Amino acid sequence: MTFNPMEEKGIAIDKQLRSWHDTTLKPFNKTKVDCYTRTRQILMNGIEIEAWNFKHNFARISSDEKVNQFLADTKRIEDAQQTTVNWYTPSDQSVLETTLGYEQVAVDLTAWMAQNEPDEYVKETFDFGLLEDFDHLYRYSQWAYMEHGISPNDIVQGQTDVILGRPTQNHHNDNKIRLRKHYDKQTASPQTKVNIYTLVSGEQQTHNYYAEHGMEYGNQCIRETYAEIKDVEEEHVTMYESLIDPTESLYEKLLLHEFTEVCCYYNCMTDEKDERIKEIWSMFLDFEIGHLRVAAEIFKNKEKRDPEEVIGNKIVLPCRFLSQKEYVSQVLRSQIQKRLTKDKGYTNLCELPEDWGSYKVQKEVGKEGAPTENVIRVIAAAKGRDLVVADDSLKNEQVKLLEKGLETKALAPDTVKPEELLEMHKNEEIMHECK
Ligand SMILES: [Fe+2]
Ligand SMILES: [Fe+2]
Ligand SMILES: [Fe+2]
Ligand SMILES: [Fe+2]
Repeated sequence: MTFNPMEEKGIAIDKQLRSWHDTTLKPFNKTKVDCYTRTRQILMNGIEIEAWNFKHNFARISSDEKVNQFLADTKRIEDAQQTTVNWYTPSDQSVLETTLGYEQVAVDLTAWMAQNEPDEYVKETFDFGLLEDFDHLYRYSQWAYMEHGISPNDIVQGQTDVILGRPTQNHHNDNKIRLRKHYDKQTASPQTKVNIYTLVSGEQQTHNYYAEHGMEYGNQCIRETYAEIKDVEEEHVTMYESLIDPTESLYEKLLLHEFTEVCCYYNCMTDEKDERIKEIWSMFLDFEIGHLRVAAEIFKNKEKRDPEEVIGNKIVLPCRFLSQKEYVSQVLRSQIQKRLTKDKGYTNLCELPEDWGSYKVQKEVGKEGAPTENVIRVIAAAKGRDLVVADDSLKNEQVKLLEKGLETKALAPDTVKPEELLEMHKNEEIMHECK
């Protein structure tokens, strides 16, 4: 039986206020939590932040008193949901540990969406972004080891590979080149809309997390790494939000925000193994059905259209977290050399024109070095080579992948070149033999 949220009762908005005690629940145990419970928690925090933020922006330009009353009531509810979800984070989970969780969300979420995305162009954009967050996971994992002595598997639990992707220094584009073609609101499927709304929320919160926490480390190299990757997340928000049809009215966007929340909580509830947290996903699903019902009424009154035209008549699954190693490694092997073109398309780096707009940006931001390259030198000085968690066949291809994926026209001066990476890996073999 398919779940149609419009046929569910949910919980009425006036029954959604909770005490401080009920809002602020016991954190999970960072060593016992399932990695995909943590990714759901990270994603749903981002979903709630976006729901709250969108409603504030809407309220600032709305003169309809009834609409403003709905927004006023539910802004507070979205905000309290955010508290509950985000404050499952335990106080002993370091910023870098949480960061590995954020990048695991980006990799496994985007891979899930790419495989369930009916629009080929949107899928191509997901695959493109995927390889960038995949590289962030690798770069941050080096610091997590150097700073806290943790293995990436302490966080990703063997579900996600940790190895280089498209090198981060190549992610810096002229932000205008990030702009993509938007879907057509009349013909795009609800799955496409919900996928993009979900991913924009996740990427935006990733950006905000790095913006708010990257400075908590005293180590200047780590601070610069956060600054560098935070800037890529800004590009990701720009890229993914440009896929949304800008002619959707604010009422349509309100409907889509509530529908996205419904779908995400439904998906979390269905997949969750931790009974305590599952109860919250289930309760918040009912809250969101309550919001959706009112948002649908507002939409009907304002637009004289059936909400079904926008959101369909059944739930979609935007955030099923599963190990995506096979899919990601296939995209990595076939698309590491892919780049953006200024006419909203894609090309291979060997075909980029001399005057490609992003070269100028890369030369400027990386002129004193790329922190995400420096980290490989730092870890190599300490332990001979970079830290990689993947099966042997992928590990053995790493140098070749770097050769294929590294663009050489605007390289940062501290770039670890393929031949140096090869030497590092040989070092390890020598060190291994000496033991
Ligand atoms: Fe919410
Ligand atoms: Fe990322
Ligand atoms: Fe990202
Ligand atoms: Fe909501």
